[in-house]
Amino acid sequence: MSDLRRVLVLNGVNLGRLGRREPHIYGSVTHAQLVEHLVGTGTGLGLAVEVRQTDHEGELVQWLHEAADQEIPVVLNPAAWSHYSIAIADAVAQVPLVVEVHISNVHRREEFRHHSVVSRYATGVIVGLGLGGYDLALTHIAATA
Ligand code: DQA
Repeated sequence: MSDLRRVLVLNGVNLGRLGRREPHIYGSVTHAQLVEHLVGTGTGLGLAVEVRQTDHEGELVQWLHEAADQEIPVVLNPAAWSHYSIAIADAVAQVPLVVEVHISNVHRREEFRHHSVVSRYATGVIVGLGLGGYDLALTHIAATA
């Protein structure tokens, strides 16, 4: 078993379609390529990164419970759920360290994307820095005791 500190990167609804989905907003990198990249970033930072994606809200809630119970830091892109899911927000509130990431600058987009019900419970939020936001979140976690 690895001695590296575990981190979960959790991606919500529609993010499995990265690379095919509105590439002018989200870019051309696929979710599989993102996974490979982030595992490599984690290794460089001394972190054992596990990336998961789901289109099912309850599944994401269960992963957040797992992170809460095992005190695993989380990098979370709740995607569209950010804007309305109190269930995801309540689950995030139970996890000690959560960095919320949005690939696009939601504040430059439609009004309904401007508010995240999750952010209040997140440790910090990274918005609009593309996929690099995930790397920054991992760097923060690696630097956090
Ligand atoms: C997103 C922004 C959300 O508004 C959107 O629903 C997503 C992705 C982002 O990463 O920019 O699916 O969270």
